[in-house]
Amino acid sequence: MCSLPPNSSANGPKARTLACIPVLSSGILSTRAAVTYTMAVALSCEGLWKIYEMGDEKVQAVRGIDLEIISGEMVAIMGPSGCGKTTLLNILSGIDDPSAGQVMVAGKPLFGISDDERTDLRGKEMGFIFQKFHLLDVMNARENVEIPLLLLGLNPDEARTKSMLALEKVGLGDRSEHRPAELSGGQQQRVSIARAIVHNPSVILCDEPTGNLDSGTSEQVMDLLSDLNDAGSTLVIVTHDTEIAKRCSRVIKIFDGRITVEEE
Ligand SMILES: Nc1ncnc2c1ncn2[C@@H]1O[C@H](COP(=O)(O)OP(=O)(O)OP(=O)(O)O)[C@@H](O)[C@H]1O
Ligand SMILES: [Mg+2]
Repeated sequence: MCSLPPNSSANGPKARTLACIPVLSSGILSTRAAVTYTMAVALSCEGLWKIYEMGDEKVQAVRGIDLEIISGEMVAIMGPSGCGKTTLLNILSGIDDPSAGQVMVAGKPLFGISDDERTDLRGKEMGFIFQKFHLLDVMNARENVEIPLLLLGLNPDEARTKSMLALEKVGLGDRSEHRPAELSGGQQQRVSIARAIVHNPSVILCDEPTGNLDSGTSEQVMDLLSDLNDAGSTLVIVTHDTEIAKRCSRVIKIFDGRITVEEE
């Protein structure tokens, strides 16, 4: 029998179908009804190119990438330095524009729409975790986690409650009033994970989430990412860390701007 990722939905806007032969309780294969399960695509891209032009020089950082991430997957993107991983993730995130191609998030296009529409789509459907955490120094942990909710228009009380719940989820309920400078690197990364999950996004995109952490702290962050995935979150993780890759359901290898290998 095929298994579905935990939060697959038959009602996803765009869906990939997978035919499975159900096994009856007797263990006999049912030949009558081949059930078609539908798997929601959380994030996809088609024909993605990114060419940086610097004077006469052109750098083809991403060269025709097609990708489909199913809801509930945890996918690692790996490859040597300079092969285009961050460029790809930034385009999948809507941080950077592609030179060609399209990205679909929860069935909606990320490009060819207005800036406001893109901000709205990113704010609702995506969470981000970066190597350098990108927390605001002047705000405490709770206020940092509230930011995506306030941008979505939640009132301050709701934002505060949800932010505290997210901080408790990452084990930092007792550090909510501390500013980033008063937290360790691992704790800062956990705040950024809380900020990435607080609005319950369709997909969480991570660029080297353990890149600035020692090995013990990296393991805590990896445990947290695995727990999120076990609870149904979809994760796309750019990493050099083979320990992260081992925990992923799929590893996509990139070389010179192209996908070379996809391993389950
Ligand atoms: N803003 C930019 N302008 C011009 N070239 C760029 C720009 N950003 C990245 N590049 C080039 O695009 C290529 C891909 O860079 P990218 O940062 O995506 O690599 P990466 O796989 O993330 O590397 P690393 O593992 O070192 O983080 C590199 O040749 C890089 O020099
Ligand atoms: Mg990079």
